[in-house]
Amino acid sequence: MKKPHILITAGPTREAIDPVRFISNRSTGLMGYELAAAAKDLGFDVTLISGPVSLKAPRGVKTIFVDTACGMKKEVLIRVKGKSALLMASAVCDYRPESPRAKKIKKGRPFILRLVQNPDILKSVSRFKSVIKVGFALETENLIANAKRKLKSKNLDFIIANKATRAFSPFGGGKKEAVLIDKEGGIAWIKNASKKRIAEVILNKVSSRL
Ligand code: CTP
Repeated sequence: MKKPHILITAGPTREAIDPVRFISNRSTGLMGYELAAAAKDLGFDVTLISGPVSLKAPRGVKTIFVDTACGMKKEVLIRVKGKSALLMASAVCDYRPESPRAKKIKKGRPFILRLVQNPDILKSVSRFKSVIKVGFALETENLIANAKRKLKSKNLDFIIANKATRAFSPFGGGKKEAVLIDKEGGIAWIKNASKKRIAEVILNKVSSRL
C-alpha cells in the first residue's frame, strides 16, 4: 500500500497594507508544526505549507513558506490532489486590504483602510472528495454550534474547535482545551493537553479513517 501523504497548513497569513505594514493575527503556527511532527513520527509523508512563524521546520518535512491567504490557497491547490488528508491548522486572514499601497503611507491625516474578503481555502478544495479534510475553528462564543456550522459548510470530515476568552488564550504553548467534532455527530473533548498531545489525538483520528 502507498504511504499516506498528509498536507498540513500552519501559522497566520499576512496581508499587506503598504511595503512595511500588514494585517495578521496571533497564530504562532505551533498546532500545525506539532501536527507535521506527529504525522512524520507515524511514518507518513508530510508536506507543510507555513505562514510566517518563528518555529523550526520539523526534520524530514517538506516545508513551503507563504505570506498571504491567496498565496496559501495557490500552494494548497497545487498540492492537494492525491493527498490522503488536508489538515488546515493555519489562521487564514479573512480579509485583505483592497489596494495595498506601493509606497509607505505617511502619517498626518486619518484614512480609511478598505478590506476585501479572501477566498475560503477549505471551500475551494471540497471537490477533492477522496481527501480527508480537517478544519480548526477558533471561537469566542457559541463554540459547538459555530464549529458544527463550519464542519458542514466546509464539507469537513472533522473539526477541532478552540475557545478564545480573555482568561484563556489558545495561542502558543501550554495546556489547552479543544473539542473534536466529526461529521457523524461524535463529540470528544481533549482537556488539559499540550498541542503535541492534541496533534497525536488528531492524527489517530485521521489514521482510523485512512
Ligand atoms: N479557513 C480557510 N480559508 C479562509 C479562512 C479559514 O480555509 N479564508 C480555514 C481555517 O484554516 C480553519 C477553518 O477554515 O481550518 C475555520 O477557520 P475560522 O477562522 O475559525 O473560520 P472562518 O471560516 O474564517 O469563519 P469566521 O472567521 O467568520 O469565524
